[in-house]
Amino acid sequence: MFDSGIGGLSVLKALRAELPLEDFVYVADSAHAPYGERDDAYVIAQAQAIAKYLITAHRIKALVVACNTATAAAIEVLRQTHPRLPIVGVEPALKPAVAQSTTRRIAVLATRGTLESAKFRALLASLATQAEFVCRACDGLADAIEREEAPEIRALCAYYLPTRDQFGLKMGQIDTLVLGCTHYPFASAELREFIGPEVQIIDNGAAVAQQTRRVMGELSRRGTPGHCLLFSTGDGARLQQAAHHWLGLETRAQSLSI
Ligand code: DGL
Repeated sequence: MFDSGIGGLSVLKALRAELPLEDFVYVADSAHAPYGERDDAYVIAQAQAIAKYLITAHRIKALVVACNTATAAAIEVLRQTHPRLPIVGVEPALKPAVAQSTTRRIAVLATRGTLESAKFRALLASLATQAEFVCRACDGLADAIEREEAPEIRALCAYYLPTRDQFGLKMGQIDTLVLGCTHYPFASAELREFIGPEVQIIDNGAAVAQQTRRVMGELSRRGTPGHCLLFSTGDGARLQQAAHHWLGLETRAQSLSI
């Protein structure tokens, strides 16, 4: 699995819960982040290079693109290049949000790359009659989360979120917030301060893990928990620290140049 940085750890957490016996190899492409503010060709080239590395060096049996931006830009190309490899992507959880929202007003936070992609626009168009979506491209937020800059994270959340009075459970208010970037679950506490306690926050981690289980041909049958290998093209110490903080992993992060 890979992401532009530590964001995909939110997906790794769900994958480990769903598939505890599997081994995971995680690549954080921090040297080339943020993906959300790059063009498609750049993200596709990175995705292709990382997939090739994971296939040749680790002989992976499935690939999880643990990044909404890379999924939108590159998943079709990856599937064409590796037709026999199960490949699972992640997209903003608009459908679950529609199913759970009562007011039918839903806020969506994601990167610019995700919101401007053809894939996201098609998803949004397919649900346009069922709810009103308030979408915000959060330039800089994934990067601030990556650097764990709490005051900056809080300032950006305040800047991008609709105002507090727009959130709530009354008709006309936003009762559901979709986190359309895998970094954003790590800002849930800050986001919660601005939206209040009753608004539901939705991300796709668990759904991606269930989908991965469904598409994987063969599951590990051994009786011991799987291992996690962590690689970073940038600051390995940061990845290691985040994996320890959010997942309780003791694994050392290795550096990788791609
Ligand atoms: N975590 C990524 C996502 O889910 C993107 C963060 C970035 O812009 O690099 O979209």
